[in-house]
Amino acid sequence: MRRKVIAGNWKMNNDLSESQNLISHLVSSLSKEKVNCDVIVCPPFTSLSEANSLLKNSVIKLGAQNMYFEESGAFTGEISASMLKSTGCEYVILGHSERRTIFGETDQVINKKIKKALQSGLLPIFCVGETLQERESGVTNDIIKRQVVEGLKDISSDDMKKIIVAYEPVWAIGTGKTATPQQAEDVHAFIRGLVKSLYSNEIAENLIIQYGGSVKPDNANVLLSQADIDGALVGGACLKADSFMGIIKAA
Ligand code: 13P
Repeated sequence: MRRKVIAGNWKMNNDLSESQNLISHLVSSLSKEKVNCDVIVCPPFTSLSEANSLLKNSVIKLGAQNMYFEESGAFTGEISASMLKSTGCEYVILGHSERRTIFGETDQVINKKIKKALQSGLLPIFCVGETLQERESGVTNDIIKRQVVEGLKDISSDDMKKIIVAYEPVWAIGTGKTATPQQAEDVHAFIRGLVKSLYSNEIAENLIIQYGGSVKPDNANVLLSQADIDGALVGGACLKADSFMGIIKAA
């Protein structure tokens, strides 16, 4: 049985005091619940250190939304894996479609970032997903296969056990359009099969594959009931403690 993992990707939202508010609210709500899943929050860089202090006695784990693959040096504006570690991060989201499309990240760059994260002791949440145009032209599986194969290139079996994959169809992100449970399940099963062929049955069966794209408290239950959906990567609905809690309760 795979444990469900619910992660909140705050994106570029919440300044320091808004972050303190949201984390405090979540910590107190979660302390009243019997939680049966892993919960991760990924605030912006500027709130990580403070979030880490507020999460000290909580079950909630801390993640970042991006990092650069170099160790240190003249990379103005970038943040390294060891900097993230020093703020208390355990996880880092890599390959998000917004990074791919707005910031031009390629599969090769994402692969380097995944390797660096693993080397530094961070656990990657590796995102893949097709655009609407790709889905409509019937190439969803080809795109997912390329992203998975290139993103995981030269990553060992031991390291693969530390990776979470998130399937986020680009057309479902922030649009209110969720993939149907069947559409999502089909791609999740495809990803699991791919990981089985690249690694082993055991690694594939233990792999956590999250779904992301307009997950809300009222659709979380049916999505999370699918055989190969092991959690959610939540955007908009994680910015309010109540709706994020609704998704956590569904899990
Ligand atoms: P929304 O939940 O706002 O669609 O965002 C999903 C996402 O991109 C999480 O990484």
